[in-house]
Amino acid sequence: MWTASVPWFAGTLDTVSYLLICMFPIFLAKLANGIFIDLTSYKNLMISKKQILRVIDEKEETGNMEPFINKTHEITFKDVDFSYVQGGESVLKKIAFTAGNQKLTAIVGDSGSGKSTILNLVSKYYEAQDGMISIGGKPIENIAAERVLEQISMVDQDVFLFNDTIRDNIRYARPDATDEEIEAACKEANCDGFIRKMEKGYDTPTGENGNLLSGGERQRLSIARAILKNSPILLLDEATANLDIENELAVKQAISNLLKQKKTVVMIAHTLSIVKNADEILVVSSGKIVEHGAHDDLIKKGGKYATMWKAEEQLSV
Ligand SMILES: Nc1ncnc2c1ncn2[C@@H]1O[C@H](COP(=O)(O)OP(=O)(O)OP(=O)(O)O)[C@@H](O)[C@H]1O
Ligand SMILES: [Mg+2]
Repeated sequence: MWTASVPWFAGTLDTVSYLLICMFPIFLAKLANGIFIDLTSYKNLMISKKQILRVIDEKEETGNMEPFINKTHEITFKDVDFSYVQGGESVLKKIAFTAGNQKLTAIVGDSGSGKSTILNLVSKYYEAQDGMISIGGKPIENIAAERVLEQISMVDQDVFLFNDTIRDNIRYARPDATDEEIEAACKEANCDGFIRKMEKGYDTPTGENGNLLSGGERQRLSIARAILKNSPILLLDEATANLDIENELAVKQAISNLLKQKKTVVMIAHTLSIVKNADEILVVSSGKIVEHGAHDDLIKKGGKYATMWKAEEQLSV
């Protein structure tokens, strides 16, 4: 711009050319900015395209859609291997156990040892890479996940709630349930009290994924769903660790009401006192079952469970 000013002052450059020369750098900067924005949008578009193609390439659900009805509901794992990433490190290694029909089987073990993964395979959120899983003696590998899930109630660490009223969020477990049945399930799940205290009671919206409710309240709603569904199998991922004492007691009470129903229960427990009366306790460590048996036998054995039990006793003193 300065270089062009000299001939313009001297009268050898006309005003229009001088102005054009002055605007040139601005034009260049705008052009560079435009190219940068276009390139960024193109890159984002390519990322989205890759993700869409991945969804399209996903294997279609091919399982048998016939109703999956069994006389008994024991769950058996035979040498099950599983890894979340193909060819990656195994999260479950040769897992073998039977959760007896209408018995309470507890799974305990360190964080990250593979407890929730075992339940994810029973409910067919994922497929085992090796070994066999069966319910009532029938392998579930070729049964549609939808059909298997009809037999299962799952009380999970992460409860999914729709942006809808509390009543309809619970009815989701059994669409034909009456209002009275929903309220009875909520009483058993220890949530009737806090629901009635809300301004609109059962018609209160839960907010986007239940963000208007506390963790303990969300868990109790999920227990109410399980009570209402009344399916023969119950998978429970007990997660009372992050709750305050009042909520923890309310959730534990709700769980013990839930366990009164006669079902095949597999329950992951983070506190051992809750599993003391289980028919069978599986102790998982680094993707393997390292011990199993009833509480008294495991204490006598003096292994990992006994160490965990002693540690918990010391904490509660
Ligand atoms: N969706 C996933 N994708 C990849 N890896 C996963 C996934 N879910 C869990 N894992 C990994 O698998 C291993 C077992 O996880 P899992 O959730 O089964 O442990 P857990 O015993 O339930 O732990 P916690 O007591 O903390 O709930 C962990 O190393 C975890 O990081
Ligand atoms: Mg878990």
